[in-house]
Amino acid sequence: MLKIGIVVGSTRPGRNGEAVARWVLDLATKRGDAEYQLVDIASFDLPVFDEPVPPSMGQPFTKAHSKAWSAAIAPLDAFVFVTPEYNHSTSGALKNALDYLFYEWHDKAAGFVSYGGAGGVRAVEHLRGIVGELHIADVRSQVALSLFDDFKNYSTFAPRDIQANTLMTVLDELLGWAGALKGYRESKHAKAG
Ligand SMILES: Cc1cc2nc3c(=O)[nH]c(=O)nc-3n(C[C@H](O)[C@H](O)[C@H](O)COP(=O)(O)O)c2cc1C
Repeated sequence: MLKIGIVVGSTRPGRNGEAVARWVLDLATKRGDAEYQLVDIASFDLPVFDEPVPPSMGQPFTKAHSKAWSAAIAPLDAFVFVTPEYNHSTSGALKNALDYLFYEWHDKAAGFVSYGGAGGVRAVEHLRGIVGELHIADVRSQVALSLFDDFKNYSTFAPRDIQANTLMTVLDELLGWAGALKGYRESKHAKAG
């Protein structure tokens, strides 16, 4: 079965991101078509990137937190990035977590679930550029949750029914590409010997 990580992209105490990610996990798990798991950036306590060498250089990591983060991401086949919109972009925490790794992200698929005043769409537009640099293939469909219409008092998650349908479309697209890219990674590694 494909392994899909649902990445909680905010670390703020009282964050909305955790409820959103748990909703994704709950609906995704009911599909029974992959192994879905939460990947909570907050639990890795990543400082602002502090490795001496860029991860693209392929050197061993020097810090325990980098090694733990790498070990969590490497076995996964695809990702659902759950992102808030902070100042018209994604959170610093998610950008930082993406920056920490390079090869662990390569040739894998991603979909996005965003939230914010305007559905978090500006955060996802930025994220698409970032994940492209990491060789992640991002699917077109996106769940864009409105702080006004999918939350009560901007803090209690209560999504409109339509959002679950959109999430299924995102997951359909994601699993298609995740399976294709898993085959691609295997043939690439076989050729490399
Ligand atoms: C630093 C900061 C900047 C924000 N900037 C925006 C923004 O530019 N656009 C927007 O729609 N919402 C913005 N918001 C509102 C967040 O999208 C909203 O508070 C969301 O719940 C944050 O995610 P979190 O609760 O998981 O931390 C901002 C919130 C914070 C904390």
